[in-house]
Amino acid sequence: MRRTLSYAAATSDSEATQEMDCLRRNRGKEMAFNIAVAGKGGVGKTSLTGLLIRYMINNGMTPVMAIDADANANLHEVLGVAVESTIGDLREELLGRDGAQPGGMPKETYFEMMLHQLVAECPGFDLLVMGRPEGPGCYCFVNNLIRKYSDELSTKYPYIVTDNEAGLEHMSRRTTQNTDLLFVVSDPSQRGIRTAKRVLDLAAELKLDIKKTALILNRVDGEPAPALLNLIEEEGMVLAGWVPADPGITDYDLRGEPVLQLPDDSPAVVAFEEILKTLGISPGVAAG
Ligand SMILES: Nc1ncnc2c1ncn2[C@@H]1O[C@H](COP(=O)(O)OP(=O)(O)OP(=O)(O)O)[C@@H](O)[C@H]1O
Ligand SMILES: [Mg+2]
Repeated sequence: MRRTLSYAAATSDSEATQEMDCLRRNRGKEMAFNIAVAGKGGVGKTSLTGLLIRYMINNGMTPVMAIDADANANLHEVLGVAVESTIGDLREELLGRDGAQPGGMPKETYFEMMLHQLVAECPGFDLLVMGRPEGPGCYCFVNNLIRKYSDELSTKYPYIVTDNEAGLEHMSRRTTQNTDLLFVVSDPSQRGIRTAKRVLDLAAELKLDIKKTALILNRVDGEPAPALLNLIEEEGMVLAGWVPADPGITDYDLRGEPVLQLPDDSPAVVAFEEILKTLGISPGVAAG
C-alpha cells in the first residue's frame, strides 16, 4: 500500500480495469453487477452507499437498484426518498392473511403486484427496503417468493447496490451471496479493522460467492495512522483507500439533507470517487 497523500491505494488504472473486465466476462450476460456494503456498526456504510449511488448516477451507470437490507432502514434518508412500506410489512401482511387475497387473486399474483408498488422509483435509481426481520411463524412461502423476485431483479437492472446491516448476520443468512464487489467499511479504529477482518474471514469460510472485496477506511482525520496501516497489513488485508471525515456529511446529516446531494467538491465525494475510479468502477463493468 502506497503511504502517500492519495485517497486511493496504489493499483494501476489498467490493472483495475482488467480485473473488472474479467469479472464482467465471467458473469452471465443477463446478470446485474452486484455491489454490497458491509462493516461494523456506525462506520459509514449507508453514507458511502449513498455516495456510491451518486457516483453511478453521475457516470451513467443506471438504472441502479438500491436495496436497503438493514432492518433499521435509513438508506432512503441518505438518498432523499420517502418510503411508505417495506418487504417486511408485506411479508407480515401475507402471513396474517391466510385466506383469499383482495380481488380473489392468487397469493403469488397479489405479492408480485404489491412488490412492484414497494419499489420507489427515482431518477437514475429505484429503491427497495427490506424492513423488519421475520417474527415467529412460517415464512417459507413468502420467502420463496422474495427469492424468486430477487433472482428476477438480477435480470432487470444492470447494477444492484445493497446496504447491509452492521456485523456478520447478513453473511450467515447468505444474503451477501453472489456479490461481484463487496465494500468492507471500517472507521479508523482497531475494532473496525478487526470486524472487517471477521467479515472477510466469514465470507471465505462460508464460501460465499464474492468476486472481489475492497476495504475502505472512512471518517479519517488527516491521514490513516501508521499503526492502523500496520494492523491492516498484519491481518493480511489490502486497503483500497480512505475517505476523510467530512463536515459536509455531518452538516447534511444534522439538517436531514440527503448525502446524495453533497457538492461535487465535498472532500468525502472527491476521495471516494478517486477510490471508485481506481477500482475500475465504470459503465463497462456491467456491459454484457
Ligand atoms: N466521512 C464522513 N465524515 C463525517 N461523518 C460521516 C462520514 N461518514 C459517515 N458519517 C456519519 O457517521 C454516522 C454513521 O454513518 P452511517 O449511518 O452511514 O453508518 P452505518 O455504518 O451505515 O451505520 P449502521 O451500522 O447503524 O447502519 C452518520 O451520522 C453519518 O453522517
Ligand atoms: Mg447503515
